[in-house]
Amino acid sequence: MAGEVRPPGDKSISHRCVLLSLLANGRSEIFSISKGGDVNSTLGIVEALGAVVSETDGRIVIESKGIQEPRKILDVGNSGTLLRLATGMLAGYQGHFVLSGDESVNSRPMDRVIEPLASMGARITGRSGNRMAPITVLGSELKGHEFSGLPASAQVKSAILLAGLRADSPTSVIEVVSTRPHTEEMLQEVGVDVEIVDLGGSTRITVHPNSSLKAKSWRVPSDPSQAAFFVVGALITPRSEVLVKDVLVHKTRTGFLEVLKRMGAQVELRMKSDSVADIYASSSKLRATDIGGDEIPSVIDELPILAIAAARAEGTSQITGAEELRVKESDRILTSVGMLRAFGVDVEEHKDGMVITGSDGPFRPSVIETKFDHRIAMSAAIGSLVADGEVEIRDASSVDTSYPGFLAVLLSLVG
Ligand code: S3P
Repeated sequence: MAGEVRPPGDKSISHRCVLLSLLANGRSEIFSISKGGDVNSTLGIVEALGAVVSETDGRIVIESKGIQEPRKILDVGNSGTLLRLATGMLAGYQGHFVLSGDESVNSRPMDRVIEPLASMGARITGRSGNRMAPITVLGSELKGHEFSGLPASAQVKSAILLAGLRADSPTSVIEVVSTRPHTEEMLQEVGVDVEIVDLGGSTRITVHPNSSLKAKSWRVPSDPSQAAFFVVGALITPRSEVLVKDVLVHKTRTGFLEVLKRMGAQVELRMKSDSVADIYASSSKLRATDIGGDEIPSVIDELPILAIAAARAEGTSQITGAEELRVKESDRILTSVGMLRAFGVDVEEHKDGMVITGSDGPFRPSVIETKFDHRIAMSAAIGSLVADGEVEIRDASSVDTSYPGFLAVLLSLVG
């Protein structure tokens, strides 16, 4: 594998740019937004809520006069992030909002968001005893609240902070394990008073109510979760050198680089600014490592591709404490284990992770069941680079939810 690649705009940041542009008064613009289906769903939802969205010269322009009650169901597609964030955002707005998505998203837990929001006074109901979408939000007056003991989830934290914008007093979330801080940092950028206080062993994030966010121009850096596929691809294939350009680097997002460095990977960050770097990666002899504990949120989306790296490493790697994988776009413990087994890798499934014994022999020709999960499909595509025959990746169209064109880019790098 050889060459340079610039992955699409970060998906987490793109969602937030669009939602904050809806909450702002006036004209916002977004450069290098993610072009995947998930962020398209977010654009569709802000249009349904009254914003005018257009695209000019590769940038998205959003004109907003605030949230209006929609005339249709808000369709989140495959995006759990959108479902959680939009629910929190809407909880304090007068109106009737129904949110629903595809079969996968409508099977993912929503009680983790509905219950804390209800304790702020939100009126939200959902299928299956208020645990799943479709959900209905009846906007209501919200009270500020301090939360601790929530799951280590940036989506849950973000839903609460966005609801807090409309509460009658400040709202805080105390985090013991850090999760991606994009919502709180981006709220600060649009004029919201957000305090982030280190309590020694935990962090308190407090948002002060604010209904007049500033419109602004956003530039989205490349997605580290997409960069991870090319980095691992370069590491596990012979005579490879790849430069992945303009990637967002933040310790809550680049845990995969720390894991890979522990495995002996030749990777180098070439910083371009405080938070953006080019990542250089080249063929490496990998050794096993353990992944678990507080590290999990920083690698949560990269575990399937790290599982591919572990399958090529010398020794036995363990992933523990990753039960959250069970409630992603697919049950990613099951789909990752299934993928590795199909490739002929020695892997054990555990309730909260997996144990993988690596080898440097080729992967078997195989059929990979992805369960329509984009990250499993992309991990399988990288795995196929070290297979000694044909690999069929089922339902690979899911790749379009986060990275349309991924396969063509990968092919251009492998020549
Ligand atoms: C995301 C948070 C993570 C991650 C997801 C995107 C976000 O989910 O898996 O892909 O943008 O906030 P959790 O915070 O629920 O773990």
